[in-house]
Amino acid sequence: MRLVVVVDNRAKEGLRKEWGWSAYIETHGHRVLFDAGASPSTLEFNAKRLGLDLSRLNFAVLSHHHGDHYGGFRYVGSVTGDLRVYSPPGELGYLREWGLNPVLVTSPLEVERGFWLTGPLSAGWILEQALAISTEEGLVVVVGCSHPGVHRLVRAARDVSGIDVFLVVGGFHMPSERVLDELAGMSRKICPAHCSGGRSVSYLRRKYPEKLCEVMAGSTLTFS
Ligand SMILES: [Fe+2]
Repeated sequence: MRLVVVVDNRAKEGLRKEWGWSAYIETHGHRVLFDAGASPSTLEFNAKRLGLDLSRLNFAVLSHHHGDHYGGFRYVGSVTGDLRVYSPPGELGYLREWGLNPVLVTSPLEVERGFWLTGPLSAGWILEQALAISTEEGLVVVVGCSHPGVHRLVRAARDVSGIDVFLVVGGFHMPSERVLDELAGMSRKICPAHCSGGRSVSYLRRKYPEKLCEVMAGSTLTFS
């Protein structure tokens, strides 16, 4: 399996950065996009630069209905036909207008063999889900912005899959130290990105240096 960070607040040289998040995952015979960043042009530019052909996606996942996660789906719609986009409850009409096929997710589910969705967890009126993928090393959990709490999303991912967590990657939404401690108790690797905040990175670097992995647009994680 490989996971490529396509859009993030930070980017490797030659790639565009923006306030947003998107990750491309290839495994179990599927090509999947998790979130799409904020703008169609950034997603298109970075995907092409990274040699990723988004017209060949099998399905996509939207973590939550915020523009820095769904904006780039306009580009995905322009290069795919009727692509399934597993979405939490909310206004889905814009995805249809962009030529996509939004699939409403209301509870935890195994979406394809080896791919699970936590189903929507709530943070006030925001509903957000995470994607979990099985690897030989354990469960890889991809989160968007973690409004409901990254520890809650990871726990839900572990519960729905029944697999111990190996790694969590994505936006952690400036978690408290208590939340990071709980996360460290559940996951062997922790890769904060997007909206995680510099303070959580420095806390992890200080307290859990062996768990911390730093990623940005252009980073590739590979798993057996
Ligand atoms: Fe976000």
